[in-house]
Amino acid sequence: MPEPIKVLVTGAAGQIAYSLLYSVAKGDVFGKDQPIILVLLDITPMMEVLKGVVMELQDCALPLVQEMIPTDKIEEAFKDIDAALLVGAMPRRDGMERKDLLAANVKIFQEQGKALDHYAKKTVKVVVVGNPANTNAFICSKFAPSIPKENFSALTRLDQNRAQAQIAGRLNVPNNAVKNCIIWGNHSSTQFPDVSHATVTKNGVVQPVAEAVKDDHWLNNEFIKTVQNRGAAVIKARKLSSAMSAAKAICDHMRDWWFGTHEGEWVSMAVPSDGSYEIEQDLMYSFPVNIKNGKYTIVQGLKIDDNAREKMNVTMKELKEEREMALAACQE
Ligand code: NAD
Ligand code: LMR
Repeated sequence: MPEPIKVLVTGAAGQIAYSLLYSVAKGDVFGKDQPIILVLLDITPMMEVLKGVVMELQDCALPLVQEMIPTDKIEEAFKDIDAALLVGAMPRRDGMERKDLLAANVKIFQEQGKALDHYAKKTVKVVVVGNPANTNAFICSKFAPSIPKENFSALTRLDQNRAQAQIAGRLNVPNNAVKNCIIWGNHSSTQFPDVSHATVTKNGVVQPVAEAVKDDHWLNNEFIKTVQNRGAAVIKARKLSSAMSAAKAICDHMRDWWFGTHEGEWVSMAVPSDGSYEIEQDLMYSFPVNIKNGKYTIVQGLKIDDNAREKMNVTMKELKEEREMALAACQE
């Protein structure tokens, strides 16, 4: 058996964590033979609820969980961690945009960035889920200067999964027949879900998605809007923001980062821009990435037409605005 790794989940008493913790604890993310020390951070008023979550996890009698550390102390939570799943933050309600959460949530990620800097292993892999996820991840990294920038990411895998499922549903194929959907930019309604490089396998034949769908109008309009607004649609229906699907996407994101992507396939992650595709540096922008040996590289050389360029710029502009608002909020 390998040495245990220390995995932090914040917002551990919340909705997403309730779905996430079981998958992490049973080995879906870090492997079926990887013992785990689960660190569970929430705020002080949630400690009683968190106690119940810990009881349930104990009652699952899972072999990989070596220890659980429920806590409301940030220095204890971030000590020597190998992975951080930063979920804890306020979710939006019906009628709000994700950036409306910025003032409420950005301070959390400023504080947690500092905690990562002081207490975490320098190799820690961080995924930010709490919204606005890209900008919170940017702030977190900014306040953790001793940790390499490439160790920070934000979740756009849920958007990728949504795009894939919409295409599969339209073509009446299993979800895993659709590959290489891309999410560019922000995890918000300006994101650009792009299937111009995606393929579908039907009856053993691999085809570009656009050829198989045969309806450019649907692809350029309804499809994009559905994916962009899916989070809001779930909130409207459930009166709560998506949790089960978000937890599944967090697992997909971290598992692929930990173990790598399959040959010829890429996944979308919001990562620090290195200037690829003319996206300004110092932004946490979602790109297609390949992952090998725990390191991602942005997929290069994809053809970007004028229509795509315009959409990629719209979401970049929003991220720049959010960055300015977040930096100002951190001064307050
Ligand atoms: P929730 O309200 O059910 O749970 C959030 C938990 O975080 C609560 O238990 C709360 O006490 C805790 N918390 C608040 N401040 C904290 C802090 N400083 N440290 C530790 N814990 C803290 O919300 P949820 O449904 O679990 O959603 C969590 C966040 O994830 C929201 O911001 C939501 O918008 C976001 N989200 C992102 C995605 C994505 O794809 N990026 C998808 C779904 C939800
Ligand atoms: C989602 O995409 O479901 C989450 O980001 C929640 C939200 O506010 O949309």
